[in-house]
This record gives sequence, C-alpha cells and structure tokens, in this order.
Amino acid sequence: MLIAASPAELRASVSAWQKEGLKVGLVPTMGALHEGHLSLLAKVREQADRVVVSIFVNPTQFGPNEDFSRYPRQEEADISLLKQAGCDLAYLPTVAAMYPQGFSTTISVSGVSEGLCGNCRPGHFSGVATVVAKLLLQGLPDLAVFGEKDYQQLQVIKRLVLDLDIPVRILGAPTLREADGLAKSSRNAYLTPEERKVAPSLYRLLFEAAKRVQAGEAASLACFEAAKALIEAGFAKIDYLEVRDADSLAPVEHPKAPARILGAAWLGRTRLIDNLPLT
Ligand code: PAJ
Repeated sequence: MLIAASPAELRASVSAWQKEGLKVGLVPTMGALHEGHLSLLAKVREQADRVVVSIFVNPTQFGPNEDFSRYPRQEEADISLLKQAGCDLAYLPTVAAMYPQGFSTTISVSGVSEGLCGNCRPGHFSGVATVVAKLLLQGLPDLAVFGEKDYQQLQVIKRLVLDLDIPVRILGAPTLREADGLAKSSRNAYLTPEERKVAPSLYRLLFEAAKRVQAGEAASLACFEAAKALIEAGFAKIDYLEVRDADSLAPVEHPKAPARILGAAWLGRTRLIDNLPLT
C-alpha cells in the first residue's frame, strides 16, 4: 500500500494509474476506521481498479464546542486495517498541507445544507463541502463513495459536485449496523456500557416511526411520539427527528415521493445520528 502525505503525491499516483487506463475510486474518511468505512472500500472495489482512502480529521467541520480535540485518532491501527482490506493508497495529509497559511476559501451549499444537522452544527457543512471539494480536486479520482449514514452530507456533496462541475462520480452506500441495529460509527467509542445498551433505540424508534408514516400517519405526529419515546429510553436531548424528501430534503408530512426519516439525539455527551428510507 502506498502512502501519500501531500496533494502532489496523491495526484501523481492517481494520474499514473489513470494513464494506464485504470479506474480510481476514493473513500474520504476521518479515520478511527470501522467496518462501515470498510464497506465503502468494498463498494469502490466493485467499480474501480485502484482504491484510495483518505484519513483527515478536518478541523473546519467541527464547531468550537465540538469534539475535534477528543475525536478518536488511531493512525497505526487504521493503516494496518487498510492494508488488510486491500487499499492501494492511503492519503494522510497534515492540517498544514490542507490549510496552508493564508487559506481563505469556503464553499457553502445552500438548500440541502439547511435544517437538520445544518441547524444544530452551524458551519459544519461548509467545512465538509470545502474539504471534500479539495480532496476531489487534489486527487481527481474517477469516483468517490460516501455513506448514507450521513445522509444530509451525501446530498450536500452530490449538489456540490453538480454545481461546481467536479468531474468525479459520487456514489452512496448503505449504512452498516451492529447486530442490534445501532449504526456503526467512530463516535460509538464514546459510549459508556450503559449508554451502549440504550443506543439502538434510535434506530428502533426511527424504524417504528417510518412504518407509521408509511401506514398513513402524519410525519410530525409520528416523529413527535418517537422523540418522546427516545427521551423515555434514556436519551438526554433530541436535536431533530423529521421526515424529509429523499432528494431535496424538503420537509414532508405525507410523503408521495421517496422520503427519508432522519434523527439526531444526545446520549450523555455523545451525539448520535441515523436515518432510514421510507418506501
Ligand atoms: P467519517 O465520519 O469518518 O465517515 C467517512 C465515510 O464513512 C462517510 O461517507 C460516512 O457516511 C461513512 N460511514 C460512516 N459510518 C458508516 C456506516 N455505519 N455505514 C456505512 N458508511 C458509513 O463523514 C466524514 O468522515 C467526513 O465528514 C468526511 C466526508 C471525510 C469529510 O471530512
């Protein structure tokens, strides 16, 4: 497995492969890799001859009171996981390489960035859009894959790539879950054993609310009841629990087109997010 630390090294490897006629896929991550990340790698493998995984804990997508400093960092373990998983190149840029002195550009995507996590985490999606635009333009891979686990992020990135004519195909991949339904996440490492037992309620209650909306109940009522049940289960605070159009993310009460139920809630000091499709 090759390791690149600068945009120039990344570009050199990707373009050499492309000159040989090989397709290159990118999986952007912030590290602390788990099976969810590895499932994205497997998805890229289906469509690309070479797989690049980036690991960069991007400071600009964390708010001032968020978990940037305590976000799990385990570079050595991540590198050995990537080797085992058949990654061809790990890209680990430094903060100085990504944001050199004088860096002044921010990309903000309106519409799909608004509401949901956009409300609770001001500036978060600008940080994501800017770093993802940089990663895509630095490497210019043929395709890049992002998880539906962060559904709003996926929609923001699709919009960004379309609007800025970035020549990279964006793929979404389904959420990988623990046996009890909890979506795999690097932040699950923060949960105490007690909280870990309560955590799957988020998935379970989203699933039940989705079924009720599919059966004809108004989305706002089903979401209100699910939020109440989450608090009863032991969650400390609900950031949001809503049904939205699957593409535009506009709020919907009685979905007629593909929709998504999305939730974010706090278990102690840990913020968990999850979402499910409504069929
Ligand atoms: P991170 O949270 O490390 O996630 C990297 C990718 O893995 C994202 O596309 C995310 O949606 C996906 N992912 C996380 N958990 C998953 C699961 N259980 N099943 C399937 N996919 C999962 O998301 C980010 O990093 C950053 O915002 C990033 C896009 C790298 C920009 O900094």
